[in-house]
Amino acid sequence: MQNGDPLALRHTGPTGLDELQQQILRVYSASHADQMHNPWFHPDQFWDRLINLYAPTRAFDLVSGWRDEEMVGYAFGSARDTDNPWPEIRRVLPHLQPDQPVYIFREFAVHPDWQRRSYGHEIHDELLRNREEQVAQLLVRPDNGPALAAYHSWGWVKATTKQPFPDSPVFDLLILDLTVRRSVKDD
Ligand SMILES: CC(C)(COP(=O)(O)OP(=O)(O)OC[C@H]1O[C@@H](n2cnc3c(N)ncnc32)[C@H](O)[C@@H]1OP(=O)(O)O)[C@@H](O)C(=O)NCCC(=O)NCCS
Repeated sequence: MQNGDPLALRHTGPTGLDELQQQILRVYSASHADQMHNPWFHPDQFWDRLINLYAPTRAFDLVSGWRDEEMVGYAFGSARDTDNPWPEIRRVLPHLQPDQPVYIFREFAVHPDWQRRSYGHEIHDELLRNREEQVAQLLVRPDNGPALAAYHSWGWVKATTKQPFPDSPVFDLLILDLTVRRSVKDD
């Protein structure tokens, strides 16, 4: 495979995660190396959240990008059914009707050896392709400049801040209008 070749993209559901554990953790650890001072980001904690909290949620999907046998990045998400996020969504997207669950874009990483080649964008778009929800939501550290630059250039906007666990950082909560993406594709 040559340097400019496209990524091979794969979808994996909850039952396929164990098989990918080594490759996912390799990408996670390298891409989050600057956060290892915080136990919340320890790879064991990340894997525990992935398997026990996120994988069992409805419509869980992990998209991974591959060059030959090497995973270069992944993103995973699932639908959110447990509470009502619409008040915060309507603050920034008042034209949407609060009548559906939203999609949670849960975690996202590209190995540092492969960043800035648009692979992250490809993986991001593949995870959100064909989602039927009106809105996607994610959490990002407010000091994560590269990720914020990427998200803003892809249309995400800040709605509020959120601390999802008592031992986690306080994150910015960003949302993305998926109806706009659909109407652009449909034109
Ligand atoms: C966020 C991340 C997944 C982006 O992956 P990527 O493959 O580099 O993304 P892309 O190549 O598609 O880049 C898209 C845009 O992101 C922005 N960006 C990415 N890295 C950047 C950096 N170091 N500095 C500034 N902007 C950056 C740019 O706007 C870039 O577009 P451009 O290259 O045309 O200027 C990657 O930086 C990463 O894994 N970071 C560590 C883990 C992380 O923070 N995950 C997100 C948690 S919410």
